[in-house]
Amino acid sequence: MSIDLLAPYKLNSTIELKNRVLMAPLTRSMADDNLVPTQAMVDYYARRADTGLIISEATIIRPDAQGYPNTPGLFTSEQIQGWKKVTDAVHTNGGKIFAQLWHVGRVAHPHFFDGDVLAPSAIGVEGTVPRMRELTYITPKAATTDDIKSLVADYAKAAENAIEAGFDGIEIHGANGYLIDQFLHYAANERNDEYGQTPENMARFALEVTDAVIAVVGNERTAIRVTPGAYFNMTEDSRDKAVFDYLLAELDTKDLAYLHGGIFDDSMRFDSLEGKNTSEFLRAGYKGTLVGVGSYSFETAKEAINDAKFDLIAIGRPLIANPDYISKISNNQPLVEYNADMLSELV
Ligand code: FNR
Repeated sequence: MSIDLLAPYKLNSTIELKNRVLMAPLTRSMADDNLVPTQAMVDYYARRADTGLIISEATIIRPDAQGYPNTPGLFTSEQIQGWKKVTDAVHTNGGKIFAQLWHVGRVAHPHFFDGDVLAPSAIGVEGTVPRMRELTYITPKAATTDDIKSLVADYAKAAENAIEAGFDGIEIHGANGYLIDQFLHYAANERNDEYGQTPENMARFALEVTDAVIAVVGNERTAIRVTPGAYFNMTEDSRDKAVFDYLLAELDTKDLAYLHGGIFDDSMRFDSLEGKNTSEFLRAGYKGTLVGVGSYSFETAKEAINDAKFDLIAIGRPLIANPDYISKISNNQPLVEYNADMLSELV
């Protein structure tokens, strides 16, 4: 019998989802100038509460985590109160929502805050800030071990704030070339202390953050998104695979809510992953609940889930274009096609 993606799915003993279709995390840069969620964001998320689980847009854990304009935060009481309105509205409409916790590392820009841009090593990225093209990236400061301790503590604090704001759980943003991913790839990590050189050392920061979040919210409410193949603000290195082999085995012991691959197109294959695509690589190394993502339609996702390639699907751009995605799919109605012009307003 084929698996029905629209039927309920028990994630674990704490969380039951009403279907297997998750809303992927989608940065919209629509928070106010204090990085507080607005009423338009409340309405936007509330309209998508019929997905199995909303993953919030990436939300910064502290001021130096910011690399894009108007991305929401979870480090001031105003921000917590703003998110409380979002989570209340989602819950009122019968939905669930996880907060995606974010630090961009070397992709941060001092335009947004006072202080250093921190990264594993002093290796910059080329280019300019999206949506603010006049800002070019700077060479970051290599984080000291004290800096790393404070970063881990601030992920935990943001997780605590997220629970206070009413979120159902946390997705740690370990993907897409941001801080955690910078530790996991040789192209950004040249450290020669206990956070560099070997798979065990390079995975240490990701695992410390995961353990710190678990300590606050519990393993059943903790998830992580990772990008084993470098494709965004990062370059591939044939040694990366061993880091992720080690990381996945360690994550598997933690009985997390789920593991999520960060990718725009899951048909993309990586030389550094022995020719595998993201979901194939993650499935091979991780036995727990896996979320697939990346240019899937409902039909192709259904096929992949029925072929046991992953367990749940996250949908991104089609949910920007169709707030009523679930009802359209349920009723066999045509979807509106996404285009980038839709990013200028919250619908
Ligand atoms: C994204 N994506 C993304 N990923 C993430 O981990 N955190 C984020 O905040 C964002 N922000 C974001 C904004 C926009 C406008 C897009 C289009 C994408 C990636 C996203 O979660 C997803 O992986 C991709 O969009 C691929 O899925 P779809 O869109 O093909 O279903």
